[in-house]
Amino acid sequence: MLHLLSNEIENLDKNKRTNLINCLSGLRAANLIGTINNNGVSNLAIFNSVNHIGANPPLMGFIQRPASVERHTYENIKNTGCFTINHVNQNIYKQAHQTAARFNENESEFEKTGLNEYYSNIIKAPYVAESLVKIGLTFEEEILIKSNNTILVIGSVVELIINEEYLTEDYLIDLGKTKSIAVQGLETYYSANLIATLPYAKPNLNILKPEN
Ligand SMILES: Cc1cc2nc3c(=O)[nH]c(=O)nc-3n(C[C@H](O)[C@H](O)[C@H](O)COP(=O)(O)O)c2cc1C
Repeated sequence: MLHLLSNEIENLDKNKRTNLINCLSGLRAANLIGTINNNGVSNLAIFNSVNHIGANPPLMGFIQRPASVERHTYENIKNTGCFTINHVNQNIYKQAHQTAARFNENESEFEKTGLNEYYSNIIKAPYVAESLVKIGLTFEEEILIKSNNTILVIGSVVELIINEEYLTEDYLIDLGKTKSIAVQGLETYYSANLIATLPYAKPNLNILKPEN
């Protein structure tokens, strides 16, 4: 059994440490963030840190790595005030992964990976046509995380594009139907299988002990 202490984690080979720490939070949703720059060049990048911030008002956020190199997604959001979040699905995960490569600011990852742009008339930022869950957001605020200089970028949901057949009666998104996938760390992709939908938790509900 490994009992790794912080100094031992720090001394791990860089690649092993990055892999291990990136895996600690378990499966994370794989999303593509679409933006456009002031010259009209579209940009697309994969993110595993997209999070629900709150339902009312509807807010979502993601963690932007420190600005040690050019960060096109972040710069475009700051310049245009909008971005899209698109669920990665089983049909496009290889193209989605390739968007992490460092392209120039005048090169579009859409063109480089063969994914198609889709524009609505609500926001300027491009959606991924092949994604079955498309979310349009306007920039709301950013919070600098002082511990490591990453930035929590928060947006307001202004548009949601999804086929009604992917919603349950209660408006849960059926991730099986949208084929949305998850990623472990930075390179291992998983599909999601539904286990169960449980009733709202209340103190007096009896549940069985965990199964072995
Ligand atoms: C699976 C995966 C998840 C990633 N998640 C993030 C993330 O949450 N935040 C981030 O800043 N970069 C993340 N990256 C790295 C970006 O995709 C990469 O830096 C990309 O080149 C950014 O493009 P941009 O400069 O066009 O914004 C991730 C990469 C991979 C492969």
